[in-house]
Amino acid sequence: MKKLEDYVVSIPDFPKAGIIFRDVTSIISDKDGLKLAIDSLVDNVKDLDFDIVIGPESRGFIFGMPVAYNLGKAFVPVRKQGKLPREVISREYDLEYGSAIIEMHKDAIKPGDKVVIIDDLIATGGTIEAIIKMVEELGGEVVGISFVMELKGLNGRDKLKGYNVTSSIAYEGK
Ligand code: PRP
Ligand code: MG
Repeated sequence: MKKLEDYVVSIPDFPKAGIIFRDVTSIISDKDGLKLAIDSLVDNVKDLDFDIVIGPESRGFIFGMPVAYNLGKAFVPVRKQGKLPREVISREYDLEYGSAIIEMHKDAIKPGDKVVIIDDLIATGGTIEAIIKMVEELGGEVVGISFVMELKGLNGRDKLKGYNVTSSIAYEGK
C-alpha cells in the first residue's frame, strides 16, 4: 500500500540550481494519490468548528475545494491581483525575489466567520501570513491552516505562531 509521500516526485535543480521541487501534480494524477491527499487534509481539519475553506490561487484551489465539498463548507478563493470583479481587500507579500499582491472579495468574509486555510505547500509562510491578515481585517477568525506538504528548513511556521497548523507530509530541508 503506497503512502501519500510515495506519490510526490522530487525534481532536483528546479526552478533553479540547488532547489528540490516537490511536485504535487504527481499526487493528483493518480486516483489513489488524489484520494489519499484529500482524505488526509479532511482528516487534519474535520474536528475544527468552521464555516469556510479559503484556498489561494492556484494550487490551493486544487486542494481546498474538495475539502470544502467533503465537509459541507463554503469555499472562498484568494486570487492573484486583478482577477476578482467586485470590491477586494489586497495584500502585498514577499517572494524569494520581489513581491506579489493577492486579493479576496471584501464581502466573502463576514465578521465572526470561522475559516480554515488550505494550500498545497508551506515554504516561507509569506502567502498564508498575508491571507491571515486579510481575513482578520475583515473580522474573520482563522481556526486552522493545513498543507499537503511542509518544507521545515524554511521555517514558515515561525510566521504562523499561535495558529493551529497541520501538514500531511513534512520535509526536513528546503
Ligand atoms: C506556491 C505554493 C504556495 C506558496 C508557498 O504558490 O503553491 O501557495 O508558493 O510559498 P510561501 O510559503 O513561501 O508563501 P505560488 O505562489 O508559486 O503559485 P501557484 O500556487 O499558482 O503555483
Ligand atoms: Mg500556491
